[in-house]
Amino acid sequence: MKKDLLSIADLPEADVYQLLEEARRRKTDRRFTRELEGRTMGMIFQKPSTRTSVSFAVAIAELGGVSLSMNAQDLQMKRGESVSDTARVLSRYVSVIMIRANKHSDVEELARYATVPVINGLTDKEHPCQVLSDLLTAFESLRLAKLKDLKGLRVAYVGDGNNVAQSWMLAAGLLGFQLVISCPEGYDPEKEYVRKASSLCEKSGGQVVFERNPHAAVADASVIYTDVWASMGKEDESAHRKQVFMPYQVNEALLRRARGNAVVMHCLPAHRDEEIAGSVLDGPQSVVFDQAENRLHVQKAVLLNCLK
Ligand code: CP
Ligand code: NVA
Repeated sequence: MKKDLLSIADLPEADVYQLLEEARRRKTDRRFTRELEGRTMGMIFQKPSTRTSVSFAVAIAELGGVSLSMNAQDLQMKRGESVSDTARVLSRYVSVIMIRANKHSDVEELARYATVPVINGLTDKEHPCQVLSDLLTAFESLRLAKLKDLKGLRVAYVGDGNNVAQSWMLAAGLLGFQLVISCPEGYDPEKEYVRKASSLCEKSGGQVVFERNPHAAVADASVIYTDVWASMGKEDESAHRKQVFMPYQVNEALLRRARGNAVVMHCLPAHRDEEIAGSVLDGPQSVVFDQAENRLHVQKAVLLNCLK
């Protein structure tokens, strides 16, 4: 059975801890190795990327493998070649495919037809590799004693109920921590994810709750998380969203309502003084660049998990 990573919920809970442990080891002992020598990762991008693209390319290079970055605009997919044929063809060339796609269903189809592992590098619905690296960052920045202490997290996600929020909901369900989601009306996560998260929570003891008032949402939070108000593909709604979301800005006043030692997270790219005040993004509680760095260490763990 090949090991795809399309959703964080694909991973058994124990595998999440194993991946994070592996990423920690790679971070403390950052070396070039030959573990993935002879392996090639194909990366397909239907949307722009800085962190995902570069961290995956560097990760496989440091493990001795090579990567190939493909802009979907330059592939025959642009002219209508099917996802399934693309999957079958690429599987004859590369050892693993990482894809950033518009539609989550396309990534599922790609994985169905590919005979090599497929990794989700962001879709309209989920961003699993991001949240894995966020969990590592939360663990480190809150100075937790052991990875399992992540179960005691209380995370407040403030802003758009988007792909990142949905992956956080699944993570809370899987690992069993508390997540408060605070979005303006009309911008909640999809019902399908509310259902999935709540069924995971039943097993793990986790909690995903919804709170319209962002000030109430961050009370007692140890992590305050936000993301752009208009995700890639929603740029035409930016002006309207700026008005609707302004009360949800992560700023000094909001931060004062959280625990004094709370950390502020953002997956980046950020729009300073929109979803997050510049002073908070650049302030002492922000761990956003640690999050970005951890993408590299986590990608190594993800690649080794798929390919070894
Ligand atoms: N956070 C993240 O996925 O960044 P990129 O869009 O730059 O890859
Ligand atoms: N929610 C954002 C995340 C970017 C990394 C988007 O989909 O554009």
